[in-house]
Amino acid sequence: MSGSLEAIRVSDHVYWVGAIDWELRNFHGYLTTRGTTYNAFLLMGESITLVDTVKAPFRQEMLTRIASVVDPARIETIISNHSEMDHSGCLPQIIEQLKPKRVLASQQGAKALEAHFRIGSRIEPVAEGQTVNLGGLDVTFVETRLCHWPDSMFSYLHQDRVLFSQDGFGMHLATSEMFADQVERWLLDHEADKYFANILLPLANFINKTLDKVGKLNLPLDVIAPDHGPIYRRKQDIEHIVGLYARWAAQKRLPKAVIVYDTMWSSTAAMAAAIGDGIKTEGAEVILMPLASCHRSDVATEILEAGALVVGTPTMNGTMFPTLGDVMTYLKGLKPKGMVGATFGSYGWSGEGAKEAATILQQMGVELLAEPLQVQYVPDEAALARCHELGRVIGKKLKTSYTPR
Ligand code: FEO
Repeated sequence: MSGSLEAIRVSDHVYWVGAIDWELRNFHGYLTTRGTTYNAFLLMGESITLVDTVKAPFRQEMLTRIASVVDPARIETIISNHSEMDHSGCLPQIIEQLKPKRVLASQQGAKALEAHFRIGSRIEPVAEGQTVNLGGLDVTFVETRLCHWPDSMFSYLHQDRVLFSQDGFGMHLATSEMFADQVERWLLDHEADKYFANILLPLANFINKTLDKVGKLNLPLDVIAPDHGPIYRRKQDIEHIVGLYARWAAQKRLPKAVIVYDTMWSSTAAMAAAIGDGIKTEGAEVILMPLASCHRSDVATEILEAGALVVGTPTMNGTMFPTLGDVMTYLKGLKPKGMVGATFGSYGWSGEGAKEAATILQQMGVELLAEPLQVQYVPDEAALARCHELGRVIGKKLKTSYTPR
């Protein structure tokens, strides 16, 4: 829980009343090193509206923040923009406790809330593009399917020009400062990048559609208020994050290689270093990610804009090293597009590891630049020279296929 449980004013009619989860380190497999926030907002018209709720254990924190500006019992309307439980977890209890006159969600949202909590009969589905007047405040609903779930929608408050974008433009970052202009830019960019890579990348086509759709609506935007992380209230910050989303959703790639690997007796590590040197020789960027110390969600973050994914695995017990099994399953699910790659590794007597990794890269649609490069036991100088040469092949391809930022 944060030190202060006051609501924070966002605009003339909007307060932030969410919760700060300083302790979260695992968001369904994503390492949330800096915690997160579950943002909820009050719309203070002649009647009171709550936009989204918070994860179940944080209900009281949200209620306390609401109570710092208004009696929670005065909430007449709840808008549920997204039914994933980090935003709806306490919704059934809040409905029970506050008895709002209406709970609004998209058509898919009503179905999802029924499937989660059996509260579908309490939900009033809204139509795409519908505008409702909530105590003198006009709110329009925009369906944003698969940004992040089929139920996802944005809500737009006309009077204050605020876009409530649920997971869109969000990040897992717990801060006491709730506005993007109060947080260092490098930190915002890093956490937004990590969030996009780990949550939204498999849905990049739908993010493109959402950007197009919202762009065509030509809504004047003074504030973007996501459901995680800081709120954007300056024009330059709004333009910056929307520009990053356009780039990431288009999967524009850089002349950069990520070498992800694990090692048993340092042989595969030595091969990784030699390949990395070869890539660098050609003037491309390279980052080595040993899985003994890199989390799968950090690998995902690094490949968001990388042109090459190079995978190194020893063969152990006739298969890939288990850490590679984990990370390759995860990366495959994220569906990165437009990458080249290669695999390598040391083996003792069979050598399935790098071949299995190559099969997974092929299933991911990664263009393989070479056959798996395998070395028995410990690489000698000649073997390391082959690794270096493979690196040069990868580096050349990166330099000719992708443009630097
Ligand atoms: Fe933050 Fe898709 O939930």
